[in-house]
Amino acid sequence: MLLAGSASSDPSEAVYISIMTEHDLLEVVEIEEHSGLSCWGWAAYYAELQASNRALMLVARVALPLEQVKTDQIAGYIVARLAANELHINNVAVRVEYRRRGIGSALLTRILEEGQRLAATAAFLEVRAGNSLAQALYKKCGFQGVGQRRNYYSAPLEDALIMSAQLKQNA
Ligand SMILES: CC(C)(COP(=O)(O)OP(=O)(O)OC[C@H]1O[C@@H](n2cnc3c(N)ncnc32)[C@H](O)[C@@H]1OP(=O)(O)O)[C@@H](O)C(=O)NCCC(=O)NCCS
Repeated sequence: MLLAGSASSDPSEAVYISIMTEHDLLEVVEIEEHSGLSCWGWAAYYAELQASNRALMLVARVALPLEQVKTDQIAGYIVARLAANELHINNVAVRVEYRRRGIGSALLTRILEEGQRLAATAAFLEVRAGNSLAQALYKKCGFQGVGQRRNYYSAPLEDALIMSAQLKQNA
């Protein structure tokens, strides 16, 4: 999926989404560490990749100009899991320097499409009650608050807001 012009404010940068592989994990963990998310770490992402879950682990890459020798940088990622027709979004994060360019929305939209393709009828996630930026992203993508978990997060202790979105069934 190529998002040139929509996910990037720099027309020379094209952003594309692909399935995560083991080779992406060092960058994924680096993004996680700088995003204030509950820490999964390399081993947990690796274990998740070994499960039958690969289609629900995505990275967004920024394509570098052809003359550059370096490989395309991962700008963000999303990880979800399917259980009993419910898509559970576990983690989504975008590098600070690539935020507010539509990459988070593109990753979320794509994972919801994947969930639908796998016959999920609803998507769920937990988000820190004080994380209003992430909540705005989720609302933009069709989620709404459906509940709360008291003291769900630690360091710092905080409630979780449970959010859900209904997914249309493919005919
Ligand atoms: C939440 C996060 C993934 C959003 O990624 P992003 O690529 O910046 O998101 P987008 O550019 O697609 O923005 C989507 C919407 O989110 C909201 N939003 C995102 N950043 C915002 C900001 N700095 N100020 C206000 N609204 C913001 C807006 O509603 C925005 O839509 P708009 O641009 O049409 O107004 C990113 O901020 C991040 O990695 N945060 C740290 C990790 C995190 O909190 N993850 C969620 C854990 S549950």
